[in-house]
Amino acid sequence: MIKTPSQLLILALALAPAALLPAQAAPASASPAHQLYLANCAQCHGQALEGAAGPNLADATWLHGQPTKANLVRLIAKGVPDKGMPGWDKQLNASQISQLADYLLPANAAARKALRPAAGANAAPAPATPGAASLAGLKLPQGFQIAVYADKVESARELAVTDSGLVFVGSRKAGKVYALVDADKDGVAEHVVTVAEGLNRPNGVALLNGALYVGEISRILRFDNIEKTYASKPSYKVVKDDLPADTWHGEKYIKIGPDGKLYIPIGAPCNVCDKEDDSYAKIWRMNPDGSNWELFARGVRNTVGFTWHPVTKEMWFTDNGRDEMGDNLPSDELNIAPRAGMHFGFPYCHAGVLLDPQFGKGKSCEAYTAPVAALGPHVASLGLAFYTGTQFPEQYRNQLLIAEHGSWNRANKIGYQVRLLTLHGNKVVSDTAFIDGFLQNEQVSGRPVDVAVMPDGSILVSDDHGHKVYRVTYRP
Ligand code: HEC
Repeated sequence: MIKTPSQLLILALALAPAALLPAQAAPASASPAHQLYLANCAQCHGQALEGAAGPNLADATWLHGQPTKANLVRLIAKGVPDKGMPGWDKQLNASQISQLADYLLPANAAARKALRPAAGANAAPAPATPGAASLAGLKLPQGFQIAVYADKVESARELAVTDSGLVFVGSRKAGKVYALVDADKDGVAEHVVTVAEGLNRPNGVALLNGALYVGEISRILRFDNIEKTYASKPSYKVVKDDLPADTWHGEKYIKIGPDGKLYIPIGAPCNVCDKEDDSYAKIWRMNPDGSNWELFARGVRNTVGFTWHPVTKEMWFTDNGRDEMGDNLPSDELNIAPRAGMHFGFPYCHAGVLLDPQFGKGKSCEAYTAPVAALGPHVASLGLAFYTGTQFPEQYRNQLLIAEHGSWNRANKIGYQVRLLTLHGNKVVSDTAFIDGFLQNEQVSGRPVDVAVMPDGSILVSDDHGHKVYRVTYRP
């Protein structure tokens, strides 16, 4: 059944004489397989097979067996419906599916490359949002819109969202905690309320049982009944006040785990140093009342983002790599900590593969848990969220969005994006830009810090450079 103009085009191309030739022999402009791919597959697997909401199809990682012709034909025809890969045997005929399978064969990679459009030719620019000129340069996948949710949120950092959609935001030097209020539910927070001020870099915010927890450098505070009190300068209780006072990697990202405990990292107070016997370079946890302080993970240089997988309930966290090993080493890490007591390598081994020139002597990377993904050197991967809403298309469900704050000391800047990582179990199968364009010609217009999912399925992204919180929605 033909439903759309693009399917008509495909039919026309499929009936053209070129369709009788093997895909790799067809002239570039008329390759029917390439057109079929662009019309039906590129939206999820990328123009150049690099992956987007669906996995990369050009790399060596295959989820469903080896990429033989027969295997590919079967996969394309039947799909993996419960994982967001549609079956195509209703919409494409056997010859078209066969052409697509040929097109994807690793042996045809070179032929495919010759057909690729010039970089950026088909990138979908974000539609200009009225009154948000600085957003015009931002790029998101087709169908997504970005707009300013709240402005003048000085040094906006970690986000915490209540079930009713009230948003709390921590900050660094501003010393403030904010509440963003969208009373008329039009998708823009018309009030930015200062909940507390004069705090010592209250980067971290977390919610539990109606209370807001705030992580300063050396203290954890609790504001009870916060949804009722946020607008009237609420008082707080100090639930912990003996964390180290170091400011280097001292700002706290905090979150409540599925076990009801509050997780608190203590970063290494240095670029690289051995603090194995101290409280540093570790993730800790405690009961929300401050009791039962205990070690959760070791070998973590500086995590400014962690969350729990919505299905497996395992902790996933980013960790920022050390500096002064050049522009390209080591990579930031994405780690999984399914249980307490694991060691993630710092300062001995970086990114699972690189022994430290100084502290790695006599050590082996095998002794430590390797990351599930290398996120890139100096990109400063911070907050992350699994997409658990229902507004975005099905294939985004339970995939990972990671905020990259961007490099501060690399010759050419890198990062300054929100990345989309698609997963198959605990395997990362693609890593592509979800929000791009904060960095243009070495000029920076925003630095993403944290990502949070709203009750309506939109997402928020904080930016401590633009002092804003953005909202991303999906409307096909
Ligand atoms: C709506 C998004 C979407 C579209 C459109 C889509 N795919 Fe997929 N595809 C996916 C997802 C998601 C997966 C991963 C499924 C899983 O995790 O098992 C996938 C997996 C695959 C795989 C298996 C990859 C592997 O590593 O084993 C192949 C091959 C594939 N798709 C080919 C295609 C082709 C060819 C088309 C176009 C005819 C297409 N896909 C269109 C989302 C999509």
